[in-house]
Amino acid sequence: MTDASTDFDRHEREMWAGRAAAYQGSFAPLCGAVADQLLDLARVTGGKRMLDVGTGPGTLAAAAAGLGALVTAVDAEPSMVEAARLAVPGADVRPAVLPDLPFAAGSFEAVTANFVLNHVGDPAAAARELVRVTAPGGHVAASIWPFPQPPLQAFWGEVVADSGVTLPAGPPRLDAGRDFPRTPEGLAALLRGAGLDAVRVETVSWTHRVDPEAWWSGPANGLSTLGVLMRDLPAESVARIRAAYDRASAGLGDGLRTSALLACGRVVQATTRSRPARLAM
Ligand SMILES: C[S@@+](CC[C@H](N)C(=O)[O-])C[C@H]1O[C@@H](n2cnc3c(N)ncnc32)[C@H](O)[C@@H]1O
Repeated sequence: MTDASTDFDRHEREMWAGRAAAYQGSFAPLCGAVADQLLDLARVTGGKRMLDVGTGPGTLAAAAAGLGALVTAVDAEPSMVEAARLAVPGADVRPAVLPDLPFAAGSFEAVTANFVLNHVGDPAAAARELVRVTAPGGHVAASIWPFPQPPLQAFWGEVVADSGVTLPAGPPRLDAGRDFPRTPEGLAALLRGAGLDAVRVETVSWTHRVDPEAWWSGPANGLSTLGVLMRDLPAESVARIRAAYDRASAGLGDGLRTSALLACGRVVQATTRSRPARLAM
């Protein structure tokens, strides 16, 4: 991996470290809103061996278990693994970090990654790994947030602009050579390049209603780009952002529009690891 990918992944490990509860109390319901649709796209049904990658607190894993699937779930962050084990006691939940999954090729008939490919330093390698662990004839389904940002995601930038606070430089960005357009075409090309056949990408839109305190608690506890940047701001700057948030969040009662890109594809032939597995975990 390039240094930029490594920096990006290191930043991700640090951002999520110990933050399962913070995620559950803030952004998890937003990500979970498409859980059932993603399971449908991956053709998860009773008796199928399914893997949920980047499972977080196990929202999709729990829903898949409810369908009677044989659930395995992994996450890079230990506190998420703990939370998912509690949420899905019958599942095999383990720590694992994309793009190196500790499973033999073709181990699963359905593989899901809900808002995970937007958190990895090498999206193409991560997508290839999702395909590698899927059996021929099986399905992979993945979601990401689109760009340009929908109103719900753009909301935070508007709050900061209104606060008058100048944020420091953002966290590491993906290497330009490894990034992909966050559009239906860009996600489809990524998944086709990973070896998936019959790739479909749909844009789903909905209104997400939030409790203002719960929504603020995400960045306040270090989650999201804003949360990472706020960790190093003086208390006075955070207070100004909070005041701007209070002004803006008065209008949150009816919720804000958001959308996500949901993709699926079929595995037609077995693939192998493109490079040796890293042993350290
Ligand atoms: C936005 S959360 C989504 C969690 C869950 N899929 C959901 O729908 O609620 C992203 C998750 O991906 C995990 N993650 C980030 N990078 C990862 C990687 N390289 N390998 C495995 N998991 C990763 C994070 O720890 C976090 O739990």
